[in-house]
Amino acid sequence: MTMPDLAVHRPTPHESAARHVTGTAHYVDDIPDPAGTLHLALGLSERAHAKVTHLDLSAVRAAPGVVLVLAGTDMPAEVDISPIHAHDEPILARDEVLFYGHPLFVVAATTRDAARLAARLARVTYKDLPAVTDIAAARPGGTLVTPPMTLARGEASAAIAASPHVIEGRLTVGGQEHFYLESQIALAIPGEGDEMRVLCSTQHPSEIQHMVAHTLGVASHAVSVEMRRMGGAFGGKETQGNIFACLAALVARKTGRAAKLRPDRDDDMIVTGKRHDFEIDYKVGFDDDGRVQGIEGLFAARCGYSADLSGPITDRALFHADNTYYYPAVRLTSLPLKTNTVSNTAFRGFGGPQGMVLAERVMDEIAFHLGLDPLEVRKRNLYGQDTRNVTPYHQTVEDNVAPRLIAELEAKCRYAERRAALHAANATSPVIKRGLALTPVKFGISFTATHYNQAGALVHVYTDGSIMLNHGGTEMGQGLHVKVAQVVASEFGLGVESVRITATDTSKVPNTSATAASSGSDLNGMAAQAAARTIRERLTAFAAERWQGQAAQVAFADGMVQIGGETLSFADFVRRAYAARIQLSASGFYKTPKIHWDRASGRGRPFYYFAYGAACSQVAVDTLTGEYRMERVDILHDVGKSLNPAIDIGQIEGGFVQGMGWLTTEELWWDDKGRLRTHAPSTYKIPACGDRPMHFEVTLLDAHENAEETIFRSKAVGEPPFMLAMSVLHALSDAIASVADHKVCPRLDAPATPERVLATIEALKNPS
Ligand code: MTE
Ligand code: MOS
Repeated sequence: MTMPDLAVHRPTPHESAARHVTGTAHYVDDIPDPAGTLHLALGLSERAHAKVTHLDLSAVRAAPGVVLVLAGTDMPAEVDISPIHAHDEPILARDEVLFYGHPLFVVAATTRDAARLAARLARVTYKDLPAVTDIAAARPGGTLVTPPMTLARGEASAAIAASPHVIEGRLTVGGQEHFYLESQIALAIPGEGDEMRVLCSTQHPSEIQHMVAHTLGVASHAVSVEMRRMGGAFGGKETQGNIFACLAALVARKTGRAAKLRPDRDDDMIVTGKRHDFEIDYKVGFDDDGRVQGIEGLFAARCGYSADLSGPITDRALFHADNTYYYPAVRLTSLPLKTNTVSNTAFRGFGGPQGMVLAERVMDEIAFHLGLDPLEVRKRNLYGQDTRNVTPYHQTVEDNVAPRLIAELEAKCRYAERRAALHAANATSPVIKRGLALTPVKFGISFTATHYNQAGALVHVYTDGSIMLNHGGTEMGQGLHVKVAQVVASEFGLGVESVRITATDTSKVPNTSATAASSGSDLNGMAAQAAARTIRERLTAFAAERWQGQAAQVAFADGMVQIGGETLSFADFVRRAYAARIQLSASGFYKTPKIHWDRASGRGRPFYYFAYGAACSQVAVDTLTGEYRMERVDILHDVGKSLNPAIDIGQIEGGFVQGMGWLTTEELWWDDKGRLRTHAPSTYKIPACGDRPMHFEVTLLDAHENAEETIFRSKAVGEPPFMLAMSVLHALSDAIASVADHKVCPRLDAPATPERVLATIEALKNPS
């Protein structure tokens, strides 16, 4: 028998692609407001750290259209929306504000404009307290928002001391605004009794359900949360939606009317957390061949006023400080610092990118010190196959494809030849200098909190043969829904058009994890497959009974069911099964095998497997202005056996460009009062279509199945490609280095804005 054509492994378009581009995809704000809906606006603190001595909201209450005003003190003190139950996030600030923009009160009015105008009328008296707004200020004294972690293997300091070469340095890497196109939003609709329905833009409907239930003082069964799709999330809607949903629900409960909270872009940028910026101190010892002997790193992060996810994020930074490289002796420590700024949160890569930039900086340092090609140093330090393959967290790297990826990409994009040619051309080009760099990525797949690695799904087969699919994952543009639909269609030998995915809904699939850690399709694909297989087994048993003795030959393919010699359409077969009272609905469940992690000892197998990639970037830098252009990017990426190559390539392109924005033009800037001054697209520069590399080629690693039993042997793709953009930072560094004849490591920090590029060039030209 030949293998039937499956719905998986095909470049099927995103399930909403046509609706996205024709404006017919519904987001929360497209749902018609229920009659009498109230609109909410937040009143924000204008101090970074202060006691609120007097909060006069009388003018707010008296403003036209205002129906209700709630301040922090109107809520019970035990109501807190910290996602990790740290009890450090009251929904609204009470008597003390902890950052500039801290929400102090919420106004509900008959229109959104009325609410926003009224929110400006508050009269607040503050008594200023000392404010600590950046890492440098937070270091002395150093209050931590969450316990730090150390990863260690061997005796790092002794290994460094015994090394022939030692380098010390500090690297700084900036934060990042999520800049999802659809802002945060929540619509709460009160039901009968204590029931509350919440429609909101969230990666984590179950957490919203719990937070709303806790805020309203009702059981979880009274609250249902629905989420059809997000207009982008990127980690920014993993926990940051809590405040919006809880306030909308609170107003809905108190007024009996539907309530909607949609902050405008500036408020969204001021109020919600961002990627953590880091200062990383490193000390590395290496031999004459450029091989690391020992390394130490201290990872200080600006976490903001509360813990949020800063613990697992700074942990993940440490988990990725090795990238694809073996450290014989290593000691890495996190320093999650509390600051009077917005509470930083998840962002694509979840701290991993910030860890990885250290590894790549160190490779450059070694290369410049020894006068070697940086790619040669990278290759010499790669994890080995059978030896040199244990990570700083004592997980053995199996299935290491980094050497193969690098070799294939290096040959394909003619790295050595092009780099030599560019450097030769630079010698006769006084102003424009070109640079080239090839950097790898290895990213661990699984939530490091083991219990999050579970998922559920619900599949209904209707009597016309069409299928409704629901699972716990959320769609944020990444193509999760089409992938899971492909999985279910494949189980029944159907085309993907037979499967409809419906909104994620806590009343259909309960107790879900956030769609995060790139594991959406790994987890929900498996859960949906389990549900589909349960139904298929029942159908097969039914066929055995009805078509006596031929069950072994039941096959589902091409929309047909073949039972022995007889073939009938799937719909026809299902109708007969229904008539025979076969249950055509099932739930499915999955938990990731093999993983375990002990944070206290820093040992375990936190990751089920690794995803790999490599990128080679070429840039041209104007050394008089610091401006640059991305001339060419070649990527080779490992997605295992792709569930959907079109979606995967889209994720790689999008992830790369977003990573490039983080490392180049996106700069967050707080003034000396702790006020975020980059809170709109006018002052915060994300990549635009013109910034896309002129030559941009993405290839999926061929003939490579996941060695682990993942869904159809695929690999997660959501976050890993983000870090391919490190090749841009190092290409810029390579171009800059040419002004000092490649003798000095430029130590280019991120974001490498034109301003910073120029300053780095000037420093190389005029060493102090
Ligand atoms: N792609 C799009 N278009 N929009 C997004 O918001 N989020 C990223 C990534 N790709 C995102 C995206 C992040 S942070 C993660 S963790 C994954 O998608 C989550 O989805 P997955 O687990 O289904 O890959
Ligand atoms: Mo992604 S940062 O894990 O939501």
